[in-house]
Amino acid sequence: MFNKRIKMFAQKMMSPDKPGEMSGKKIEDADFLGLTGAETPIEQRVSRLLSSMALSEKIDLCSGYDSLAIRAIPRVGLPSVWSSDASSGIRSFDTATAFPAPIALAASWDRTLVKECASAIAEEARAKGISILLGPGVNIHRVPTCGRNFEYFGEDPYLASEIVVPYIEGVQSKGVITTVKHFACNNSDFDRHRNNASVDERTLREIYLPAFKAAVTQAKTGSVMSAYNPINGVYASENKMLLTNILRDEWGFDGFVISDWISTYSTEGPIKAGLDLEMPNGKWINVKMVKKAIENGTIAPEDIDRMAGNILRTLFKFGIYDRAPIDTSCKPHSPEHTHLSTEAAKESITLLKNDKILPLNQEKITTIAVVGPLAKDTPIGGGGSCLVISPSSQTDILTGVQNASGDISVIYIESKEGEILSEGKHLLKKADIVLLCLGYSNIEESETYDKMWRLPNFQEKLIRNTARINSNIVSLLLSGSACEIDSWLPAVKGLFLCYFPGQSGGNAIASLLFGETNPSGKLPFTIAKQFADYKSNENYVKHPERTSFRQIMGPKRVLKKAKKQMKTFEYKEGLFVGYRQFDTEKLEPLFPFGFGLSYTTFEFSDLNITPDSGGLKETVSVSCSVRNTGKMAGSEVIQLYVKDNESSLPRPEKELKGFEKINLEPQEAKTVTFNLNKEAFSFYDNRLPGWTIEPGDFTIAVGNSSGNILVSGSVSKKAE
Ligand code: BGC
Repeated sequence: MFNKRIKMFAQKMMSPDKPGEMSGKKIEDADFLGLTGAETPIEQRVSRLLSSMALSEKIDLCSGYDSLAIRAIPRVGLPSVWSSDASSGIRSFDTATAFPAPIALAASWDRTLVKECASAIAEEARAKGISILLGPGVNIHRVPTCGRNFEYFGEDPYLASEIVVPYIEGVQSKGVITTVKHFACNNSDFDRHRNNASVDERTLREIYLPAFKAAVTQAKTGSVMSAYNPINGVYASENKMLLTNILRDEWGFDGFVISDWISTYSTEGPIKAGLDLEMPNGKWINVKMVKKAIENGTIAPEDIDRMAGNILRTLFKFGIYDRAPIDTSCKPHSPEHTHLSTEAAKESITLLKNDKILPLNQEKITTIAVVGPLAKDTPIGGGGSCLVISPSSQTDILTGVQNASGDISVIYIESKEGEILSEGKHLLKKADIVLLCLGYSNIEESETYDKMWRLPNFQEKLIRNTARINSNIVSLLLSGSACEIDSWLPAVKGLFLCYFPGQSGGNAIASLLFGETNPSGKLPFTIAKQFADYKSNENYVKHPERTSFRQIMGPKRVLKKAKKQMKTFEYKEGLFVGYRQFDTEKLEPLFPFGFGLSYTTFEFSDLNITPDSGGLKETVSVSCSVRNTGKMAGSEVIQLYVKDNESSLPRPEKELKGFEKINLEPQEAKTVTFNLNKEAFSFYDNRLPGWTIEPGDFTIAVGNSSGNILVSGSVSKKAE
């Protein structure tokens, strides 16, 4: 029943409407009042339109239409403008390329690749008449079991910022608006309408806001989506501190703010706070209710002008009202995009364990047994609005390995509820290698509720039963975030974390298994030995996966009551999320943030810091040499962490402030240089309040994971 309702929800989100139509009239026929020519300055076009539109038309513009569109205002020649989810490919409106999940893009640590994937997604959007992409999401992995962690860019604000910027640049360079979401602190999907994130300002500024800030100030996202949850007791859609004070006044955002779907709870609240567009329809922001609020004096007509103005200005800026919605020069999907999706999966899949079993030696292997339900039913993405419903092709793990195996015989072994079916036991025993496909399906890891920490569906039993018969196991784990691995890790000799690898996951996995590609993905989150090790979990729920579906998607009365029944999650762990906690507490994780093995080895040397002493705001240049000391070409991610050796407020042990991914041939060496500006040394001091750098010594630590620092030095900052 539960799964059926989720599927119904998924269907509902596939709006069947056609972009490019305006009340039955084709956009090409639209009359733009003769005053909206592209050569007229945007502000002039906006103010002329605002003065010619009736109040009701402006209100209509600010209240969503048909689940995914900004409404057409035919009288003034404005066509409807269509949006679609999102960050791993175009979810709705027919076939599209499914790229690896956003968390996998982050695990590639490759800005160029992220930009290429994002611009390919935007081209497909243009081909389908989509002008607004409802992503990317940049909420931080605060708890490992958040059902949407796979949609985000990991636990570190710097990494998330560095990934979101090229993502947005890639999409917006094609004329499609991005909607960075969910602003802010939507850090779990457990009962997301009621979970009040109680978070202090310093934590907000240092951990939960930086990726949004980068999206706005560096990448200039055209749109921002508010979150479902309240923050410090005020719903995100009504949170003036976030939507106006920080977003517009501090960061200079000039786009429009969209509500998350059904996340508004009044008419005046969102309007006064700075929201511009209510989605998916005008439940609260509609002609009747807004006019009544104006009559009552709780809002003014100027508020509506501001909202409509923000929408119009952004749509003009991106040329959306000046072009046909469908760009026929773009393809809705293509073999080139499938290839790019495969390359992205190869770059992101992370090798976590290799007990001399990988890469598989094709010459010495005659049989590979493939076990586990996800071998044939390999999820291309997590569930909910991020899932591409109709991928242009799909290669599961079994097929991918079969395609690449040459003369090796690849056999699928049936199992049920953790038991190997009797006829398979003999084959399993004879196999040279067992590929054990584990993890979460897109029902088990999805939007609207959280996921289990331990592997679902008798998979631990399956591991035990498989290992009893054949111990040459390489496990392929599909999971968008950390999960329980410690108890079964000794039973496997090799382990790849595949995240959700997109439509060609099977081919990418095979390429890594057989050593055609050298693994280079690195963890964008910390994997703890046990759930209780994450401090944030103390301030979370005991059974995160048990959210009542009714509370989320239930009848309206449940949502109306939601406001009264807020539950508060205190972010008591403060800044100490992910490796910031583990490093500071000297608590050993199972796999540290930034970790990932390769089939080759790298040597780091010659750290150079210039100047090693200087003014607080002076840029510091750090260089380091990296050599491939193995026999295979490969890529390494050079990670730079900064530690404030002494500060007046507690700071994490160290924080990521730079990274570069480089490719090296065997024995090749390259020098990597980082330029650290004042942001790399500063922290948010809520006593000021503001960002500050304190004089003193800072350690510069460079390595290939937060747990493996290979060269370090220090820089001294002097008072100015
Ligand atoms: C999700 C958003 C998504 C929207 C539209 C909501 O349920 O939270 O991330 O963009 O639906 O599909």
